[in-house]
Amino acid sequence: MNHRHLLFSSLSLVLLSLGAFAACGGDSSDGAAPPSAQAGAAGAAGAAAGAAGAAGAAGEGGGSTCTPGVLKGPWSLRTSGTEATVRWQTCVPGAKAVSFSPEGGGDPRSADAKETPYTTTYRYPSVLSDAPADEPGDYIIYEATLTGLTPSTCYAYSVAGEAAKKGRFCTARKPGEKLTFLAIGDTNPALGTTDATLSFTLSKNPDFVVHGGDIQYYSGLETWAYWFPKMQPMLAAGAFLPAVGNHESEKPDEYEQYFWRFFGDAGFDGKTGYFTFESAGVHFFSVNTQEPFGAASEQGKWLTAKLEAASMAPGFRGSIVYQHRPFFTCGDSDHHPTEQAELEPAFKSFNVKLVLQAHMHGYERFEKDGIVYITTGGGGGAIGNIDDAIDRPECALRKAYGAFPHATVFDVDATSLVGTAIDSKGATRDTFTIALPSPK
Ligand SMILES: [Fe+2]
Repeated sequence: MNHRHLLFSSLSLVLLSLGAFAACGGDSSDGAAPPSAQAGAAGAAGAAAGAAGAAGAAGEGGGSTCTPGVLKGPWSLRTSGTEATVRWQTCVPGAKAVSFSPEGGGDPRSADAKETPYTTTYRYPSVLSDAPADEPGDYIIYEATLTGLTPSTCYAYSVAGEAAKKGRFCTARKPGEKLTFLAIGDTNPALGTTDATLSFTLSKNPDFVVHGGDIQYYSGLETWAYWFPKMQPMLAAGAFLPAVGNHESEKPDEYEQYFWRFFGDAGFDGKTGYFTFESAGVHFFSVNTQEPFGAASEQGKWLTAKLEAASMAPGFRGSIVYQHRPFFTCGDSDHHPTEQAELEPAFKSFNVKLVLQAHMHGYERFEKDGIVYITTGGGGGAIGNIDDAIDRPECALRKAYGAFPHATVFDVDATSLVGTAIDSKGATRDTFTIALPSPK
């Protein structure tokens, strides 16, 4: 296991005073304080939360007071040709509907939202003075399912009564049509490069963002209360469809009470963090590498069956698998060649064209038997040592690589899928073309 120490000059004294923070790491516990320590740290806050709960108001970003209105979001996910889901979070009951209309013009419509209350237990502060703590207390997730939408159409939406709380999503493109989407991983906006990377890639107008996991880092100085406003440009740009990373479980209740409440069930047909969706005849499969994912695992069987079904679907052009932990990497993280070897026959049989990976904070492109494997884990976490494990067998297959912050823009057209890795200064660092057949 490799623990990277953050060495940014402006933060180093703080970090040194706190001990080493893992930027990514290999275990689900990386960067997390022991539960007993967290329970102790949360003790006073828990008492305050109890008082807040009794008063019917939970805190966010400042203790036991609750600010009415949208506190996190909105964001969209679960997009198909005719439906989309919009979520947001409040701490007291608020607007229960979404207003939406096609970007190109059309009558506005609205969709009612269901309200799901939930409670968080612990207080998670940050050492950054401008990073509000994640406060314990009572919250509400609102979720609206928008139906009867037109395929291949982008919509603007806002939370009813809060015009500034808005975003955009696009319904699935028809097979053979053009599609642009963004892949990013290991986003850590507190460290300084995520904002710029997003500014140079969101400007390409992607329909949606596939995230390779490690979305927010408590161990990278952040909280969810800090992360959401920083990342709202990404959340507003299109549907957000993340894979599960190890840093989604840094704290004892983080996965259920934060990650899953926000981004669970982001796609279709899956469970426990893995799912599928489709646009433009390209089928996407988000694999949860925090659970077993070899061919014989429940998830591996699901993936194999769904890949086969996709390959027979009308309009099929190819499949893309994306996940946090890499099958292949020469950098300073774990790799999973055993699972790759187990799944490769299905990948070949059912026309997987591309595998997107993260977890290792850098960029890599491998090619094996006609399948391209990209590590696109440079979304903002401290850049790692991309050659730390250069003796691994897969390194003979590595065609391009670099130690730079970045995200990767993908453009699908009538003949191909083109990937472009763009760094945090707007420079193109790699580009590659994968041939795609006409729709079946
Ligand atoms: Fe990771």
